[in-house]
Amino acid sequence: HSPTIPTPSFRLPLLGDLLSIDVAKPVQREMQMARRLGGIFERKIIAHRVIVVSGADLVAEVNDEEKWAKFLGLPLRKLRVIAGDGLFTAFNSEPNWGRAHRILGPGFSQTSMRGYHESMCAVVDELLTSWDHAAESGEYVDVGRSMTALTFDVIGRCGFGYDFGSFTRDAPDPFVGAMGRALEYVNRSSNDIPLLRTLFGRARRAQHDADIALMRETVARIVDEREASGDRRSDLLDLMLHTADPDTGERLTRESVVDQVLTFLVAGNETTSATLGFALHFLSSHPEIAAAARAEVLDVAGPDGPLAYEQIGKLRKVRRIVDETLRLWPAAPGYFRKVRADTTLGEHAMPVGSWVFVLLPQLHRDPAWGPDPERFDPDRFLPAAVRERSPHIYKPWGTGIRACIGRQFALHEAVLALASILRRYEIAPDPDYTLDVHEAITLKPRGLRVRPTRV
Ligand code: HEM
Repeated sequence: HSPTIPTPSFRLPLLGDLLSIDVAKPVQREMQMARRLGGIFERKIIAHRVIVVSGADLVAEVNDEEKWAKFLGLPLRKLRVIAGDGLFTAFNSEPNWGRAHRILGPGFSQTSMRGYHESMCAVVDELLTSWDHAAESGEYVDVGRSMTALTFDVIGRCGFGYDFGSFTRDAPDPFVGAMGRALEYVNRSSNDIPLLRTLFGRARRAQHDADIALMRETVARIVDEREASGDRRSDLLDLMLHTADPDTGERLTRESVVDQVLTFLVAGNETTSATLGFALHFLSSHPEIAAAARAEVLDVAGPDGPLAYEQIGKLRKVRRIVDETLRLWPAAPGYFRKVRADTTLGEHAMPVGSWVFVLLPQLHRDPAWGPDPERFDPDRFLPAAVRERSPHIYKPWGTGIRACIGRQFALHEAVLALASILRRYEIAPDPDYTLDVHEAITLKPRGLRVRPTRV
């Protein structure tokens, strides 16, 4: 006996829960539905059924790697036209996943991170220079634009020795625009109605193809330039071009190198810039939390001079701000899991072929977080509080063997950038702004601007 999974009470015959579709903000729509229907519910859009899971106990079950595994949901399968079988979009069974995972793992070790630190600091300095101009003239900073410039140049320089020059050019690199549109297209076409897309979508489809071509050409150029130069460096591209898989002795093909570079440019960029954006939103609206973190940075690193690699790990308050930001608005809002064999989830039967979507922003507001989950409170990440909780109620990096490979990279970059900003500026909010969470596979704050003044 297996009880049925809750569904929205009003369901159209044939079309399913079409009225519940929000093509622009599906994640926020699902958060509303979860509040009404609970920690597991099912949406049906024409023939497309999605089981959405956000209850802490149920998520703990689907994170069990013996019984469940990563699933490539529709948006991820659609991303394969961009990134092929790169690390993020590879099926579990594809040999390129293991190969790339083993070859690139060392690119995120402590030693590698130490190597990236100086390049990260150089980009952060460019960011501060651009904020200084805004501070002098009392202007607002466009947070989205500024954080994308930062994360894009960081991954370009640290990963591939390539300078996109985002802070010195008038408009963002064309790659940035192409990537934004491509992700938006994938997001929408995973949630809209296929028939309407066929009827009205021809121009958009052509733009999508052009965007993908531009992205792949940009990356091919980066790889060509490195190969032609004969340079050896300690970065991700060097590992891709010159390391053999320790298990099989095989190397990545040229095609696979392009897929991996694209994967890192997309995965390493959007998520980190969005996280920094949300963090600045919270800091600008919680000046007392910003002030305490600023005091910590001054205590650890003094008022000026570069932040040293070793100091980053000591900035515990800044780190907790990042952790708490990723709780309320996890930039990657969820992941898919599928069963390995017939099993159950709570009281529900899950036969072979079943899969679910884990809705992170709702998991991160589970009653297990206490009475006021909407409140921004970095102290939730004090060590004693973390020890008391199940690790399964906080999963912004995904879970198991397919969890984020770039986690330490993103955390180092985010803590370094926030610490540098806090040390130098007070950050005032735009009094007219209310948070607008934009969705394009990732979540990010739309239209956010803050006003920096030198401390
Ligand atoms: C995978 C989140 C930054 C590279 C993932 C997954 C999540 C995630 C949730 C698992 C996806 C799934 O299960 O389908 C984030 C967040 C970031 C971030 C929130 C920033 C705040 C980065 C950075 C890089 C990166 C900086 C690279 C430099 C990857 C890759 C995978 C991945 C390659 C696929 C790993 C695999 O399947 O083996 N990330 N990520 N991410 N992430 Fe990140």
